[in-house]
Amino acid sequence: MNQIDPRERRPQRIAVLPGDGIGKDVTAEAVKVLEAAAGRFGLPLELVHLDWDADRYLRTGESMPAGALEDFRDNYSAVFIGAYGDPRVPDMKHAADILLGTRFGLDLYINFRPVKLYDERLCPLKGKTEKDVDFVVFRENTEGAYVGVGGVFKKGTPDEIAVQEEIHTRKGVERILRAAFDYAKKTGRKRVTMADKSNVMQHAHGLWQRCFAEVAADYPGVETEHLFVDALTMQMVKAPERFEVIVTNNMFGDIVTDLGAALQGGLGLAASANLHPGRTSMFEPVHGSAPKYAGTGRANPMGAVLSAGLMLEFLGHDAAADAVEQAVRQALREGETTVELGGKLTTSQVGDVLARVVAGG
Ligand SMILES: NC(=O)c1ccc[n+]([C@@H]2O[C@H](COP(=O)([O-])OP(=O)(O)OC[C@H]3O[C@@H](n4cnc5c(N)ncnc54)[C@H](O)[C@@H]3O)[C@@H](O)[C@H]2O)c1
Repeated sequence: MNQIDPRERRPQRIAVLPGDGIGKDVTAEAVKVLEAAAGRFGLPLELVHLDWDADRYLRTGESMPAGALEDFRDNYSAVFIGAYGDPRVPDMKHAADILLGTRFGLDLYINFRPVKLYDERLCPLKGKTEKDVDFVVFRENTEGAYVGVGGVFKKGTPDEIAVQEEIHTRKGVERILRAAFDYAKKTGRKRVTMADKSNVMQHAHGLWQRCFAEVAADYPGVETEHLFVDALTMQMVKAPERFEVIVTNNMFGDIVTDLGAALQGGLGLAASANLHPGRTSMFEPVHGSAPKYAGTGRANPMGAVLSAGLMLEFLGHDAAADAVEQAVRQALREGETTVELGGKLTTSQVGDVLARVVAGG
């Protein structure tokens, strides 16, 4: 993953936003693990806790203070988010402002999602081992179908028309493709697979095809493969071992990474990073706020903890990031998990186990 120079901004200030529901539960555990890593490896992390949640929004009408994004951009190395969503805010206004606001406002154009099987017993596919499920998805994060361009006409009548546009820019497509190739080159992964639906979306996804060929020419050591997204989903289930790096647009990336999470053993284990190399970036587990589990001790904190691991890697602390991943592998091996994965521990007990292992205990 692209890193920032750890010496650039000392101390490295991190905004911590637990959010709503189980976001609060899992963030508390990710913070425990970060503090353990900071203690063992002498990391200059400064965690700033921000209570921007549904309660605050309902009380004040404000999702985040004016100037917050500029503050993140200028004064923070990273933002860590638990999850957002509360049934009392049906339009998700505060969640959209904070999550999408941060992604778009900080121009975090890479949604980086490792799909890694940490323990073969968790894979729903027959006979697949840790070696077979180990790839990363680069999802374009600022364009595509998620820009909200469109409208409805004659709403509520039998003649109603709804239009929703996808936006793809050459700049946007090229930079996510380049990020995927750079990552492949840097990590020694041999092949980049690009998925689109250019047989139907000839204009928008045709641009992806052309850019893919152009960008690939700059990386002669990396093999390329193109798949239509329907074929990609089939192959992810039939033969996940053939994938190393997948790059795709915003909506397809959203969909295929949930399939990826299932291959890993569930949403509770999936981690993500929202990146703009060299700038303040944002890290969050893939799951949502699962309100019915909030405060029950059932939420698996591993996705949040692994996201904190991705953040450590981004901040230039590779040994600490590796220790976090090894701690998760060990806990899974020893059955020290929440009920979701068949264990008996609470959210907080799993966090204690991971923090102890990361601390070197
Ligand atoms: N990035 C985000 O903050 C984000 C992402 C997805 C959904 N949401 C929001 O979260 C709320 C709930 O959405 P949802 O129910 O569709 O998705 P969800 O991810 O919150 O939960 C779906 C189901 O997955 C399981 N699950 C999820 N995370 C888990 C964990 N850590 N440990 C154990 N089990 C876990 C639970 O069975 C849960 O019922 C909604 O308001 C939604 O909009 C937020």
